[in-house]
Amino acid sequence: MTDWTSLVRPSLIGLEPYRPGASLEELRAAYGLDEIVKLNWNEGLQGPFPGVAEAVREELARVWIYPEQAYSDLREAVAGRLGTAPERIVPGHGIQALIATVAHAFLEPGDRVVLTVPTYGLYAQACAAAGAEVVSVPSRDLRHDVDALAGAARERDARLVWLCDPNNPTGALVEGAEWERLLAGLPARCAVVVDEAYVEYVEPAVRLDRVRDVEDGRPVVLLRTFSKIFGLAGLRLGYAVVDAPLAELLDVVQEPFNVNRAALAAGRASLARPELVDERRRANSDGRERLAGLLADAGCETLPSQANFLLVRVGVDDVALTEGLARRGLLVRAGSEFGLEGFVRITTGPVGLMERVAAELADVRAGLAELEAVEP
Ligand SMILES: Cc1ncc(COP(=O)(O)O)c(C=O)c1O
Repeated sequence: MTDWTSLVRPSLIGLEPYRPGASLEELRAAYGLDEIVKLNWNEGLQGPFPGVAEAVREELARVWIYPEQAYSDLREAVAGRLGTAPERIVPGHGIQALIATVAHAFLEPGDRVVLTVPTYGLYAQACAAAGAEVVSVPSRDLRHDVDALAGAARERDARLVWLCDPNNPTGALVEGAEWERLLAGLPARCAVVVDEAYVEYVEPAVRLDRVRDVEDGRPVVLLRTFSKIFGLAGLRLGYAVVDAPLAELLDVVQEPFNVNRAALAAGRASLARPELVDERRRANSDGRERLAGLLADAGCETLPSQANFLLVRVGVDDVALTEGLARRGLLVRAGSEFGLEGFVRITTGPVGLMERVAAELADVRAGLAELEAVEP
């Protein structure tokens, strides 16, 4: 028998694969439900923009041809929207793919990377798989502690700091002064990778312009996606915004043709409707505020969020609460999965749906609180 563990890179041994969880079909069968509302993965609940399905359908006639390798049309469309040069845009099949590309491009075995706990799990996974040592910095009041991140990066001579902003799973946003302190505190030969998966949901008044930071030659790698506000998670499309020489280096590592024709067509059609982004941001803010207000009335604290999800302190067993909601067809995420016992994370959406979520959550929670009160 071949001993594969002796053949693959030693850094892979002991790591767990990314486990996305049960499929919708499995959950439907397990709970005997006809309909499930998915509020556990922060997808854009409104789906793709009008015109996207037609653009994809039209592109299907050309799927026998490899995608155009330079992705010029999409790069130009993204650059036009961001007000930057196409040479700074690196498309990839989702931020997840770009995280692996960045880890592969920057890290040698034994290098250090720094990140907040809790944050999006794939940074640690990709860096550990590349053989890097992951230095975790606890959040402070469930916000990024930028001074501690920069301090850890200096102390451990880190190559990369990973910053998810707004952070998943908290929704907290880094302020301008904090961002400047982080950049000023970095050691030489260290870059910050900022995952802005949720940036389109952020109120414009508090949004940081990190595209300008890239243009100004600061050590910043920006990652963005079409999976969230553009509603294209299933097609897998994202991009990095980086200094042009770095874009070329990332393309050395990234597999050729990694973005498919359907995704490219969908991305272009989405970018043709910028007014819908603002509309969706406002609708999300309304739903999020409504949910936060109703949950506050029910006695739950919610954290300030600038994303399409809310982190809620429920004060009861979060796994039991998640299970109780799943039985009613509402999938939310148990905080225990991020080391946040007693919290749940809920994807936000239209006001009407949020009213239903708040009512069901309050009901299930009251039942659990009663049970917990009688149990020793
Ligand atoms: C912070 C963050 N980054 C990246 C992703 C995945 O992005 P993509 O679908 O572009 O791979 C997610 C998905 O939930 C996320 O929360």
